[in-house]
Amino acid sequence: STHTIAVLAGDGIGPEISAVATQVLREAGDAEGVRFNFEDSLIGGAATDATGTPLPDSTLEACKRSDAVLLAAIGGYKWDTYPREQRPERGLLALRKGLNAFANLRPATVLPQLADASSLKKEVVEGTDIMIVRELVGGIYFGQPRGTDTDSSGHKRAFNTMVYSEPEIERIAHVAFQLAQKRQRRLCSVDKANVLDVSQLWRDVVTHIGKQYPDVELSHMYVDNAAMQLLRNPREFDTMVTSNLFGDILSDEASMLTGSLGMLPSASISNDMPGIFEPVHGSAPDIAGQDIANPMAMVLSAAMMCRYGLDLPKVAQRLEVAVEAALEGGYRTADLMSPGMKQVRCSELGAILAEA
Ligand code: NAI
Ligand code: MG
Repeated sequence: STHTIAVLAGDGIGPEISAVATQVLREAGDAEGVRFNFEDSLIGGAATDATGTPLPDSTLEACKRSDAVLLAAIGGYKWDTYPREQRPERGLLALRKGLNAFANLRPATVLPQLADASSLKKEVVEGTDIMIVRELVGGIYFGQPRGTDTDSSGHKRAFNTMVYSEPEIERIAHVAFQLAQKRQRRLCSVDKANVLDVSQLWRDVVTHIGKQYPDVELSHMYVDNAAMQLLRNPREFDTMVTSNLFGDILSDEASMLTGSLGMLPSASISNDMPGIFEPVHGSAPDIAGQDIANPMAMVLSAAMMCRYGLDLPKVAQRLEVAVEAALEGGYRTADLMSPGMKQVRCSELGAILAEA
């Protein structure tokens, strides 16, 4: 089969890690009889420099035409002082909006070879394999009304609204249940239903949708408890689903179980348009152009693309196995170096991964 991938290298270390990801994808595809057409487009600061806007129409069109979008990272000091509409992060937000990416998938997997990298005790984190599904386009970050006013005593106030409609909860619930079906078939929905009306609706709707997925074991947990349990016993979780705000916080918390930013992939997906697959980390301008970045988060993002965006689980598995084999062989980029390991450059690791 042939798949068209929109490759958005972006800024900073983006081009370096994109080169590795496409190289490794090509190899894994060859081994499975799968062809990838990579189409490069501009995004972020690079796009602003070339065209005056961080998401040119031509890029969004190329993404819509593609089967999936593989994005590296955007941003850098240079553009921090630019007007809002020209800043790199606007490009990313516009892309997510343009592709209606309402579901954000953030795995937190502790690979056995890196269990020491966590800031938590190895006995606690070892074997952790969590997928957090975060609603990305609704909830308190976007709810109306929002703003500031003055109360009856003349004090300034500010307010935001946490609002979800049934269809918004239904569609994210379907994504989460279907992911759980591909995993350990356990889904934990996180809310604050003891205090918030919107959370009670969330719980009711998720429970109702769950009847369509009798093979998935559904549980509910209050967000404060979930924050504790993630650190106390992360292995108890398989798939989690939650709202925008809670998911923002819990996914960052969970990522620290793994301890290494250079290893974390993510996906932002919709029902009807190509998904966006990207590492959690940014453009790392402090190390850009030095060939020392860790490309593994990018390669694992490509694996998520194959598994969840293109339905190519065998190619995905080849990429994941390659990452584990490289770690097993002791190969580390500078960010993960520890005594006894072999330090390699970004491009060297690319060759090792492609070989594996
Ligand atoms: P960052 O993730 O780029 O870097 C944080 C630290 O981690 C830096 O010391 C960096 O060198 C290191 N690091 C990150 N990824 C690495 C990798 N693959 N290999 C080795 N080391 C790595 O976050 P920071 O510094 O807050 O932001 C830098 C720029 O990236 C900013 O312009 C920011 O807006 C942008 N950014 C973009 C994101 C995206 O494209 N989705 C997400 C986060 C930040
Ligand atoms: Mg966050």
